[in-house]
Amino acid sequence: MKTLVIGAGNMGLTYAEGMAKSAMLNRRNLMVFDKSADVIARLRELDHFDVYEKLEDCLPQADMVFVAVKPYHCDTLFEEMKPMVNEEQIFVSLMAGVTIAKIQAGLGVKKVVRSMPNLPAQVGKGVTSYTESKEVSRVELLMVRNLLDTTGESIHVKNENFIDASTGISGSGPAYVFYFMQSMLEAALKMGFSKHDSKVLVSQTFEGAVELFNRNDLSPDTWMERVASKGGTTRAALDSMDDNNVKELIKEAAYAAFDRAVELGEDK
Ligand SMILES: NC(=O)c1ccc[n+]([C@@H]2O[C@H](COP(=O)([O-])OP(=O)(O)OC[C@H]3O[C@@H](n4cnc5c(N)ncnc54)[C@H](OP(=O)(O)O)[C@@H]3O)[C@@H](O)[C@H]2O)c1
Repeated sequence: MKTLVIGAGNMGLTYAEGMAKSAMLNRRNLMVFDKSADVIARLRELDHFDVYEKLEDCLPQADMVFVAVKPYHCDTLFEEMKPMVNEEQIFVSLMAGVTIAKIQAGLGVKKVVRSMPNLPAQVGKGVTSYTESKEVSRVELLMVRNLLDTTGESIHVKNENFIDASTGISGSGPAYVFYFMQSMLEAALKMGFSKHDSKVLVSQTFEGAVELFNRNDLSPDTWMERVASKGGTTRAALDSMDDNNVKELIKEAAYAAFDRAVELGEDK
């Protein structure tokens, strides 16, 4: 299975590196194409995969094509790709908001998988949601999944509405966590901790809490009750958050991202 990644930026390169490190593809089967001469030179020096500067040298021989350019570049890219693609190829889009119908129409193809990755893919801890056009077979979808899983975990969703919804949870989600971290860092600094100590206090707290959460089936609510005792310090913090409606505001924020993802899809 020859796989091509188009666009070696943050996401494209993350996926190419993930696939290169996995046992899924051998080196000869992984190709990367980017239009930037600087990127090509840097990748050739890295020497992790075959790098191409002309689409005609790589696209026609690919069985699977990951498209990882910014959504606003897709029209120009599709025009360039269209004369070189065929109906047997599978196109996996990592682009936010670009619908399966748009990709099918833009390229004149049928087999399309649309996915929503997130930033922790860079450290092998990403989560990618994905869904497919009806022309993609089960076996083909399994191959796609195996490649997506090289950057973390993936979840199959039943339609594109859930791709937009997962943008609101996992796609934009790392920023919500950073928002919370930043708030705690600022509180720690205000209390007089050094920058270094504040960072350790906050990052270990996040890492430890996630580790506990992952080790068993307890809900976050149950963990909160375990940490908080009546009249104690944690209870005071949680009561303050409840009084300020923080939970509802976070849910509202996730919906704002979801709504924006739908809106962006409609614009395109
Ligand atoms: N970053 C994230 O956290 C994230 C999360 C979810 C989804 N995504 C999706 O991932 C996609 C890529 O995002 P990114 O942050 O990785 O973007 P990026 O860093 O800008 O990478 C895109 C790369 O593709 C190149 N490119 C542009 N047009 C091209 C063309 N016609 N042919 C070949 N290469 C081309 C760009 O070159 P130039 O720089 O010269 O234009 C750049 O090197 C986006 O569609 C985004 O919606 C990203």
